[in-house]
This record gives sequence, C-alpha cells and structure tokens, in this order.
Amino acid sequence: MTLLRVATTLCLIFSLMGCSGNKNQEKPEGLRLLEFNGCLACHSLDGTTNIGPSLKGVFRSEVVVISNDEKKTITADREYMKRAILHPEADIVEGFQAGMPTNFMTQLGEKNTNTILDYLESIGKK
Ligand code: HEC
Repeated sequence: MTLLRVATTLCLIFSLMGCSGNKNQEKPEGLRLLEFNGCLACHSLDGTTNIGPSLKGVFRSEVVVISNDEKKTITADREYMKRAILHPEADIVEGFQAGMPTNFMTQLGEKNTNTILDYLESIGKK
C-alpha cells in the first residue's frame, strides 16, 4: 500500500517536471513582450531588415543616426536603446524613415520597458 503511494507520488512529480520543460514556458518574457506589443511586425530578430532595422546585434553596436538634422555615430548603450523605444523621434537610424509608433512611453511602462531592454541586451552584439 505504502509502496503504491510512493510510486504514485513519484509519477506525479515526474509528470510535473515534464510539464515544466514545456517550450512555451521557456519563452523569455522580453520576447513575449516584443510579440505582444507588435514590435516584430516591423523588426526581425534574425538580422533581416524589415520596415525597421533588425533588433539582433544592435545593443553594444555602433549606430549611425540622424538627430536634429545632424548625422552622428552612437554606441547603442541602454540609454540609447531606451530612447529609441520611448522617444523614437529623437534619433532616426540612417537609411530608415521615422515610422515607430510614439505611444510606447504610455503603453509599456517602466517594468516592461526594462524587461524588453534586458532581452535586447541578451541578443545584442557579443
Ligand atoms: C510600425 C513599425 C514599427 C514598430 C511597430 C516598432 N518599430 Fe522600432 N523602429 C521602426 C523603424 C522604422 C525604426 C528606424 C527609424 C528610427 O530610428 O526611428 C525603428 C527603430 C528602432 C530601434 C533602434 C534600432 C537601431 O538599429 O538603432 C529600436 C531599439 C526599436 N525600434 C525597438 C522597437 C521596439 C522594442 C518596439 C516595440 C515595443 C518597436 N521598435 C516597434 C519601426 C517600428
């Protein structure tokens, strides 16, 4: 009787462990937020240029932007990336049209913005 109970408990534990290996639960929160907020309609994560530049490898890279009609090269640090999302009109990446929605400041909030930035950093330039 006790043995049966132990066996049942073990079965339950193993099946729960099986569940936690589920692909969906492993999806990073930052990636989920990029999907949820429509970023991926304009940005790829594999290096392909779309309506906007790919977000892969941007963090820590050198980006040429036009700011106030002036061309300059910026290292994409956290501050730049945050500005690119929350104040997209501030710097326009050379070769692209200003086209990012300007409502992410209110739509995302501090916490989600940081989660997205953490994720973009993780897929940034090595
Ligand atoms: C309607 C299309 C569109 C959507 C939606 C969009 N973007 Fe963009 N994004 C662009 C375009 C176009 C640019 C390049 C022009 C510029 O710099 O504003 C850009 C630029 C950027 C840059 C700067 C990239 C670089 O190479 O320096 C970042 C970072 C970025 N977007 C992040 C996001 C995130 C995060 C979201 C979702 C919360 C998002 N974008 C949603 C079109 C979009």
